Amino acid sequence: MENSRRSFLHQFGALSASPFALSALASEWNNLLAYLDSQRQRPTKDIARDEVYWQEVAKAYRVSTDFINLENGYYSLAAWPVLKAQWQHIKEVNKKPSYYMRNQQWDDRHRIKQALADFAGCSVDEMVICRNTTEALDTVILGLNLEPGDEAIMTNQDYGSMLATFNQRARRDNIVNRIISLPLHPKNDQEIVDAYEQAITSQTKVMLVTHLINITGQVLPVQKICAMAHSYGVEVICDSAHALGQLDFKIQDLDCDYWGTSLHKWVGAPLGNGMLYIKKEKISQVWPLLGDDTYSDDDIRKFEHHGTLPVTGQLSILDALEFQESIGVPRKQARLRYLKQYWTEKVKDTPGVIINTPWEEERSSGIANVGVANLKPHELADRLMNKYNIFTVAIDNEALKGIRVTPHLYTSLNELDKFVIALKELASA
Ligand SMILES: Cc1ncc(COP(=O)(O)O)c(C=O)c1O
Repeated sequence: MENSRRSFLHQFGALSASPFALSALASEWNNLLAYLDSQRQRPTKDIARDEVYWQEVAKAYRVSTDFINLENGYYSLAAWPVLKAQWQHIKEVNKKPSYYMRNQQWDDRHRIKQALADFAGCSVDEMVICRNTTEALDTVILGLNLEPGDEAIMTNQDYGSMLATFNQRARRDNIVNRIISLPLHPKNDQEIVDAYEQAITSQTKVMLVTHLINITGQVLPVQKICAMAHSYGVEVICDSAHALGQLDFKIQDLDCDYWGTSLHKWVGAPLGNGMLYIKKEKISQVWPLLGDDTYSDDDIRKFEHHGTLPVTGQLSILDALEFQESIGVPRKQARLRYLKQYWTEKVKDTPGVIINTPWEEERSSGIANVGVANLKPHELADRLMNKYNIFTVAIDNEALKGIRVTPHLYTSLNELDKFVIALKELASA
């Protein structure tokens, strides 16, 4: 067991970089890590339904017992070993504060970047660590050379911060935003690709594509959309906030031009960690938000100019990757899909219950949206919390009405059964 974990760490030089990281805490977590390692050879589809396996995984998460948490989309908590390792980083950096910042932080950051680039599937020369998806993608939206009359395509299911930043560019620079709607239950990938294609004009320069739509849980065929967009010379900004660590993919397979994620969602890093990727040949055409005279225009590090940062959070990215590796993304993906399928199957024929998420495996993951005909979204969320102690989030906008339900790896079938009973009672009231 120790060998496979150590080889993962050695691969990224992490053992020398952070001697107080997860590896140093191993003895405390030996039983769990040994168990996970002993299960490595089993098929993913068996593991996805093995409650004993997931009960073991759940031991690494310290969650509140005050309520059943089915809202793990905003911030998916870091596993306890990752948080403990972060505390070690805080103590070590704090012992030699300026010395660390002047002499060691850059080497450490490079090693973390290398591990993250490898995990996400891009070159380290094409990515930087930032604070979150909003910072990553708004940097691109604000930094692109767009002229008055240039057009951008986006949908009414995209994330509000990106829509607001495109809106600001429209007000400030007179670009034109074309906002399309996407079907909640598409017949096939082509229907989605067509929706974007029909909005393209001779003025279109860029489109925003959300990989895994946060309010519905729908997974879009990003690679096909990129191929279509590129055939018109249109660039693609991909919002993968919920995709990295939840879906099994590599950035290079998507072939998008710009991409961002939040590592505090499904990678399980502590709050305030994100990643920006820009395709090598596109770097020189994006202005950083904060001016930089250190690096050339085509050097991705021009986006790292942020002043003094909480580096201890960044050090914990390695710990999060290591912990995640002990399970593996294919297993996470399969489990989260199974959980979504488990509860939606049980309520889908209940009168008054409306599922706003596609059924097909390849078109969804762990997140799903459900409405109840006689309740407004916030009434449904409030009743679930007040009467049944189940926390979800209301989604009430022009694109759809319902609550978003997001289980996590630590969520038990017993908790989902309670949610199913609650939903059926509320729908029949
Ligand atoms: C699709 C999508 N994009 C972007 C974001 C923004 O993430 P952050 O707040 O970490 O920047 C979110 C947050 O939930 C999201 O769901």
